[in-house]
Amino acid sequence: MARQRNGGGDRPEGGGGGPPQSPERFLALMSLRHIITLPDPKLRLISKPIERVDAALTRLIDDMIETMHDAPGIGLAAIQIAEPIRLLVVDVAKKEEPAAPQVFVNPEILWRTDERSTYEEGCLSIPEYYAEVERPASVRVRALDRDGKEREVLAEGLLATVLQHEIDHLDGVLFIDHISKLKRDRVIKKFQKAAKRAGEGSHVL
Ligand code: NI
Repeated sequence: MARQRNGGGDRPEGGGGGPPQSPERFLALMSLRHIITLPDPKLRLISKPIERVDAALTRLIDDMIETMHDAPGIGLAAIQIAEPIRLLVVDVAKKEEPAAPQVFVNPEILWRTDERSTYEEGCLSIPEYYAEVERPASVRVRALDRDGKEREVLAEGLLATVLQHEIDHLDGVLFIDHISKLKRDRVIKKFQKAAKRAGEGSHVL
């Protein structure tokens, strides 16, 4: 999920932009992945369950965290870097707090409250578009962590929204699917036109 337009609840800078200042920074930049955007049809794929948490997956997780922080975003699903597997990372730490990335492998929503809350959402795959979305105010999520250990999280507030937004991605669902068809069609059309303008329609530059 993209940072909110008013900057509430997330980090002001992801460290992107500007030349590398140290070998560490350079290495970190090397692990950035390209984020795919609308109308890339891969965003509609259903992602596959992950069979094991191994070194290759851990590497991918670290790339995703780096990519999310750089964007900057507060959540990123693997399919957004064109990997159709059930993996997502989130970081809802406030700007004055240290980074606090959380990893969810094969996340499942076990429970949702009836209570609803509304947030203005954005998505790194639908740049610079924001809309209010109503979702359950809290959810219980089960997943594996970066070490392959099972964890359960009772999420509320922004974390509940981000987790639902990212888990939707694993099922090919975008936040614009939760707004009116009129608004959704308008956004999709805008991105289709931009892709067409960008040349062969395969890359928005
Ligand atoms: Ni998103």
